Amino acid sequence: MELNEAIAGRRAVREYTNQPVDQATILRLIDAAVRAPSAVNQQPYFFTVVREQDVLDRISRGAKAFMLASLADSRHAEHFRLRLSEPNFQVFYHAPVLVLISAIEQAPWIVEDCALAAENLMLAAYAAGLGTCWIGFAQGFLNTPDGKAMLNLPAQCVPVAPIIVGHPRSPVPKVPRTAPDVRWIG
Ligand SMILES: Cc1cc2nc3c(=O)[nH]c(=O)nc-3n(C[C@H](O)[C@H](O)[C@H](O)COP(=O)(O)O)c2cc1C
Repeated sequence: MELNEAIAGRRAVREYTNQPVDQATILRLIDAAVRAPSAVNQQPYFFTVVREQDVLDRISRGAKAFMLASLADSRHAEHFRLRLSEPNFQVFYHAPVLVLISAIEQAPWIVEDCALAAENLMLAAYAAGLGTCWIGFAQGFLNTPDGKAMLNLPAQCVPVAPIIVGHPRSPVPKVPRTAPDVRWIG
């Protein structure tokens, strides 16, 4: 797939079929992720691949409770509160796979490094006919000792990018973008 087609066509996918994603495909996506630039080429991250729906359900319950308890007043707080209070809402949309990109430990630029790897992974997934979505709702909880324990993550690591992956149930309509705010100097 042509790069601009992937950049323009990738969407956050929130409805998936039950079709699993095979291990070789997941490894290809991770290979694309590590080709992203990283500060001093440290690649300071590791990947946790979760395919157990029971585990994803448990993390989702923890994430919803964590988010509801820590929602600050913001433009979206009421919308989030309603969504997170729905008993049947699973923050991972029952996707067959979660790839969590975590920094090995606190260090400068880990968030940037993990986010760049995540974008590569999402674009590669789109090119492979798969859907993805970054699940920010899970981030806070995964950074707690309880969240880390659910995935046997080391205490010093920093989970940054929880990306769900799966086969989209249907095409996702384009999401509008605001025009870029460009400020020229010279
Ligand atoms: C850091 C980050 C956190 C996000 N968290 C969530 C989330 O918790 N749940 C969700 O459904 N979408 C989440 N998204 C997806 C965005 O809502 C989505 O990317 C945005 O609406 C633009 O749509 P598009 O990706 O289809 O262009 C997140 C995206 C990013 C980059």
